[in-house]
Amino acid sequence: MNAASSNAGVRRVAVIGGGTIGASWAAYFLAHGLEVVVSDPAPGAAEAIRTRIAEAWPVLTALGARADIDMNGWRFEADPVAAVAGADFVQENAPERYDVKQKLLPRIDAVLPPEVVIASSSSGLLASRISEGCRYPERCLIGHPFNPPHLIPLVEVVGGAKASRAAIDRAIAFYRAIGKSPIEIRKEVPGHVSNRLQAALWREAIYLVEQGVASVADVDAAISEGPGLRWALMGPHLTFHLGGGEGGMTQFLKHLLPAVESWWADLGTPNMTPELQQRLIDGIDQEAGGRSIDELQRWRDGLLMQIIALRQQAAAK
Ligand SMILES: NC(=O)c1ccc[n+]([C@@H]2O[C@H](COP(=O)([O-])OP(=O)(O)OC[C@H]3O[C@@H](n4cnc5c(N)ncnc54)[C@H](O)[C@@H]3O)[C@@H](O)[C@H]2O)c1
Repeated sequence: MNAASSNAGVRRVAVIGGGTIGASWAAYFLAHGLEVVVSDPAPGAAEAIRTRIAEAWPVLTALGARADIDMNGWRFEADPVAAVAGADFVQENAPERYDVKQKLLPRIDAVLPPEVVIASSSSGLLASRISEGCRYPERCLIGHPFNPPHLIPLVEVVGGAKASRAAIDRAIAFYRAIGKSPIEIRKEVPGHVSNRLQAALWREAIYLVEQGVASVADVDAAISEGPGLRWALMGPHLTFHLGGGEGGMTQFLKHLLPAVESWWADLGTPNMTPELQQRLIDGIDQEAGGRSIDELQRWRDGLLMQIIALRQQAAAK
């Protein structure tokens, strides 16, 4: 089977912006047998992307990437317009700013056939706004991955006000065909869904530190040693369905909703003063205990890979 027939009609992907997210996407696309062209205006970008792909490669190989694929078998084009020539799908990963994306998208939209989807990795910008100025805004949408995209399955697909059903379906089919777990966000909201959920939790986590309820490290442990373990398998709704015992969600709501509602009424919003920000930074330094970001990242990705592999094995049974 060639890459186009096995990947929902996509053979070549243009990755525009090759920083943290773009390089990780590039590694993932390459590992799934796609032709990959990457574009980035920064001096030395090609070398930096090459290094990032090489760093991601062992994980991708361990997760089942084909052994015959060359991790250097991608092409660099500094000019984004040249990079998208012949592409069947575009994944845009430029800086998270309306002014940057609003200039970039019309340039690549102008030279692509209208059926080619332009998906932006944007963490929270609106597709309707970043596609202003495009000739074919109906093919522009958000395809928001989680860091690092070569490992985390979720992709949030969000169409703007003018997005076509066909473009959304094509993006979802493509991401699914290459092993991602796309979800459709039906209404544009800043931050999409996952980042809003993370932001809601983080707001309360900081509030608890501000109020002296627990230290930064203990608030983190309250997630990573507890609900976080279940969250690797199921979201909050299914978690509480199981919390209701035999009666499931119906019983959970009957039994615990009044308590949960009283907690909702008591949740807070921290006042992000410079002092509180410093307390967070000091707290994290203590929690990290001298481990560098690099060390922490390697530890995280090593364990994440094992969790993802376990889930893949369970799904295959
Ligand atoms: N970092 C994350 O955790 C994360 C997670 C999911 C999504 N995202 C989204 O991915 C996108 C990229 O974020 P990142 O973290 O990779 O940032 P980054 O700063 O690591 O990378 C951005 C890259 O874009 C390049 N660039 C600058 N101007 C450009 C232009 N005009 N055209 C093309 N490329 C240009 C830069 O040289 C840089 O290499 C953002 O929209 C961000 O919201 C980030």
